[in-house]
Amino acid sequence: MNELTILKPDDWHLHFRDGDLLQETVPATARCFARAIVMPNLVPPVTNAEMALNYKKRILAASPTPAAETEPFSPLMTIYLTNTTSVEDIKSAKQAGITAAKFYPAGATTNSDAAVSQIDSLYPIFEAMAKHSLPLLIHGEVTDNDIDIFDREAIFIDRNLTKLARNFPELKIVLEHITTREAVDFINESSSNIAATITPQHLLFNRNDLLVGGIKPHNFCLPILKRDIHQQALRKAVISGSKKFFLGTDSAPHAKHRKESACGCAGCYSAWSAIELYAEIFEELSILSKLEAFASTHGADFYQLPRNTETITLIKKDWSVPEEIALPDGNPIVPFYAGQSLSWQLK
Ligand code: DOR
Ligand code: ZN
Repeated sequence: MNELTILKPDDWHLHFRDGDLLQETVPATARCFARAIVMPNLVPPVTNAEMALNYKKRILAASPTPAAETEPFSPLMTIYLTNTTSVEDIKSAKQAGITAAKFYPAGATTNSDAAVSQIDSLYPIFEAMAKHSLPLLIHGEVTDNDIDIFDREAIFIDRNLTKLARNFPELKIVLEHITTREAVDFINESSSNIAATITPQHLLFNRNDLLVGGIKPHNFCLPILKRDIHQQALRKAVISGSKKFFLGTDSAPHAKHRKESACGCAGCYSAWSAIELYAEIFEELSILSKLEAFASTHGADFYQLPRNTETITLIKKDWSVPEEIALPDGNPIVPFYAGQSLSWQLK
């Protein structure tokens, strides 16, 4: 096969950041995605509808002018749950057209200091979210110091998520960027109200790709890459074709000096090669015919949003991801998979 045409995909989880950086990140995503769920972990975090709508305006201002007779890029906004989120915040978020609310455990990742320390304290908020049909997006890791970083997702599922799902059967939940066999099993065993996103890095790599032969800071993200058995479980999940798994890149830009540092930031900036990376993986798994469902229909169906009607075409042609890209402030950034070759290219 030398050409693959699929319905235009959506990215159900990513980070655009703010300010000048939007000039880089928004066009990179609008290149191949019709919509994207935009994470709210700015500084300060996007905690209510008003902040989210203002952020949306800044994203739209940085969006490329669509080609004639094509739809403009559409950001889907989220709010960040904190200890002070109110039932009123949820109601107004829904009324304002906000797509979802994000739960970060305090200290779990980049800019999550404002997040919630006790998930149970949010139960009245989850109740309101279920009532107003506002999906809950979860960064599923415990953050206790005594828990090994490689076990944090599995323990979160065991301690928190199972109970949450049982208590709120009506609440739509997306477990974001899953990384473990335990997460795949949990999703497969749960109701149709619970789904998961999977990143390209967690399908492509395992922890050897982070640590063997020297630390590879550009492969460091959270949840951290796990061992091979978990990578294989994620691959099996996409091979299964289950509607409960869909595309979410977690593209998360950090300037080169913030990654190549004694205390490097977590996040892979994959927007530059997002759909091409997935195509590479799906071809390797001999499931290219399942790419469209994973990238373009499962997510829309889960969120009960219309499927896109435009298409994109990928052509079989080798190209290399750039080694570096200049950010609008002049700093370089190293995109995910930098310098490596991919065999599918967006036409
Ligand atoms: O690696 C990550 N980077 N994981 C996250 O959950 C957040 C993200 C970021 O914002 O940089
Ligand atoms: Zn993320």
